[in-house]
Amino acid sequence: MKAHILLSAVFTFPSIAWALDNVFLWPVPQNITSGQTKMNLDPSFEIKGSYSSPILDRAVDRYSRIISKERWVPIQVPVRAPAKAGSGGQQRKMQERDTQIRISVGEKALESLEIRVEDSTAELVQGVDESYVLDIPNDDNTATLIAATVWGALRGLETFSQLVQGQRHGIIRDYDNSEREEERAVVNNGFKGLFIPEAPIHIEDSPRFTHRGLMLDTSRNYFPVKDILRTLDAMAYNKMNVFHWHITDSQSFPLRLDSAPELAEHGAYIFNGRRLVYTKKDVKRIVQYAKERGIRVIPEIDMPAHTGSWGLAYQDITTCTGRFFLDETNKWDERYAAEPTTGQLNPVLAKTYEVVGKVIAEIASMFPDGSYHGGGDEPIYKCWEDEASVREYMSAHNATGDDLLNKFLTKEVDFIKKAGKQPILWEDSVTNNNLAIPKDVVLQVWVNPVQLAAKKGYKIIASHASFWYLDCGHGGWTGNNTSYDEQVPPKIPESLQRELERYGLEDNYRPSNWGGAGGDWCSPFKSWQRIYSYDMTFNLTETEASNVLGGEVAMWSEQMDPVGMDGRLWPRAAAAAEVMWSGRHDKNGVKRDVGEAMPRMFDWRYRLVTRGIHAEAIQPLWCGQNPYMCDSNYPAALLPQNDDHPTTPL
Ligand SMILES: *[C@@H]1O[C@H](CO)[C@@H](O)[C@H](O)[C@H]1NC(C)=O
Ligand SMILES: *[C@@H]1O[C@H](CO)[C@@H](O)[C@H](O)[C@H]1NC(C)=O
Ligand SMILES: *[C@@H]1O[C@H](CO)[C@@H](O)[C@H](O)[C@H]1NC(C)=O
Ligand SMILES: *[C@@H]1O[C@H](CO)[C@@H](O)[C@H](O)[C@H]1NC(C)=O
Ligand SMILES: *[C@@H]1O[C@H](CO)[C@@H](O)[C@H](O)[C@H]1NC(C)=O
Repeated sequence: MKAHILLSAVFTFPSIAWALDNVFLWPVPQNITSGQTKMNLDPSFEIKGSYSSPILDRAVDRYSRIISKERWVPIQVPVRAPAKAGSGGQQRKMQERDTQIRISVGEKALESLEIRVEDSTAELVQGVDESYVLDIPNDDNTATLIAATVWGALRGLETFSQLVQGQRHGIIRDYDNSEREEERAVVNNGFKGLFIPEAPIHIEDSPRFTHRGLMLDTSRNYFPVKDILRTLDAMAYNKMNVFHWHITDSQSFPLRLDSAPELAEHGAYIFNGRRLVYTKKDVKRIVQYAKERGIRVIPEIDMPAHTGSWGLAYQDITTCTGRFFLDETNKWDERYAAEPTTGQLNPVLAKTYEVVGKVIAEIASMFPDGSYHGGGDEPIYKCWEDEASVREYMSAHNATGDDLLNKFLTKEVDFIKKAGKQPILWEDSVTNNNLAIPKDVVLQVWVNPVQLAAKKGYKIIASHASFWYLDCGHGGWTGNNTSYDEQVPPKIPESLQRELERYGLEDNYRPSNWGGAGGDWCSPFKSWQRIYSYDMTFNLTETEASNVLGGEVAMWSEQMDPVGMDGRLWPRAAAAAEVMWSGRHDKNGVKRDVGEAMPRMFDWRYRLVTRGIHAEAIQPLWCGQNPYMCDSNYPAALLPQNDDHPTTPL
């Protein structure tokens, strides 16, 4: 009876997507049921299993360390519906009391988590089965994790680690500002004092999308390997499985190649007496570290635009290199590049294709993954027309800029296929230039709605800048922009003013602060809530939706380097990770509610920090301790409840 009432209480949330209320899982599993028993971990607890996989062996060691060290005590207080409106403080006390009443302690302690893997040999490839089933009993000493593959077992281990909590600290004392407070906090008692609340727990989980990525640009600014490895850790915590490495661009070429050593020799940044490059050994290390965590690494060598850095080694195969990116008129239509640093590969020279061919072949061989990203975005035809050899070719062959782009991309895609890889391109050539790119090329969408490429029949990776560009909203970075100097709000033209009055829209055009829209092309900043709201299959037919492989958040690095990197990426990338793993809609087709996600995101952010990821704060601490009190709308949980669904345990 009690169980029934409690269950009803939980289901008074209209859009509740998870059953646990003392555990905050991220990304939320597809299916969860839970009970009310607190299961202690026996001090001898161990993770073991019948499988043959050195990768899983090492993951078990890693997660055993994480679990014994983390000793997580949720920062977010339980968020079950309180009985009636009241002060936040009262609410919280009530919830703490409820928690104490509900939880009974299991008679047995958990002695092990047993892992079974159905197929230990499945390779880490696009579409590999990552499903798992996790069971925490309330009357037995063995928890089980059953996974289709090693990669599914990694996801299940992550979920298991998030279920485990440490005992609350008994004594509260003042924060010690005179000493290293953090050092004191680290007490590793092994598995002693750890427990899983709310057993029995049954979780059946699998990803909604097979491609769950994060793109990092290492050309605009350089990131040492250790920063990339830490990012891979954070990705694994969020069940992300693709690291899209945008290695090169116009600003620098930071990759050492045997076939074309001059590219890094002359094209990499030199900073404080160091050439900022990645060696073959660095690449191997990154690829292996990623694989251990179930993450594929897809390299991108962007071309034919975004190749100014090539010109430092091979001046003869690039065009308009080293010019100012605009002409004297400052008109955007007359630009030579989409941003400062011009340079584009010359599409009419045989030598260009010799260099491009060997670069693609070598890079394809350095990265074991089946996919290879060829870039292909933002071609600027004026940059080509700036070069005599190209102009001659164009008039001799009556060729347009589109023809040249088509010629280049056709050859590039052939090189990629010849290297045995699945080509990926940014969408531009198809959606902006209407070129007949082969349909077996995967398109990454960033500037047009997914629908446009989907209707043309391509497989898609969704990264729309209005949702998933993590660099947006940090202000313009060009120098000499005098438009910020505005001491009074700009005057609205009289004719427009009259129209605004007519429609009652004046307030929309009279911002309380002014001085530009932030000065970057994709401002404003994408909050985690905005990122969470991206529906990658919006308005698609079922067939079109099935062609969306997944998505990627993109971190362009004009204004980011290792300093502040974690805060720029996390926890916002985690919001995308949940959309990609759990889906924008739950298994019943109900759209996931950002208000429901809030407490879980709140807790997860602190947990990432504890795991060494400097994720930025998303709310005052007060909000996590006073559930719903920081909501935008009057909380559904505080509205009078239906009698069929009592909200307090009796
Ligand atoms: C969730 O459970 C339902 C039925 O209980 C099942 O049909 C579905 O496949 C499960 N989903 C996952 C991802 O395990
Ligand atoms: C040149 O190409 C255009 C289409 O791009 C075509 O309309 C025109 O007839 C062509 N001219 C010649 C001389 O082939
Ligand atoms: C910056 O741009 C403004 C506006 O075009 C111009 O008047 C000024 O001379 C420029 N300053 C420099 C240092 O180039
Ligand atoms: C200069 O700043 C304004 C206002 O923020 C912005 O709209 C404009 O795009 C900027 N110009 C350039 C060339 O970055
Ligand atoms: C949805 O797609 C249909 C046709 O594919 C289109 O006519 C309609 O405008 C789209 N709706 C939205 C809101 O984009």
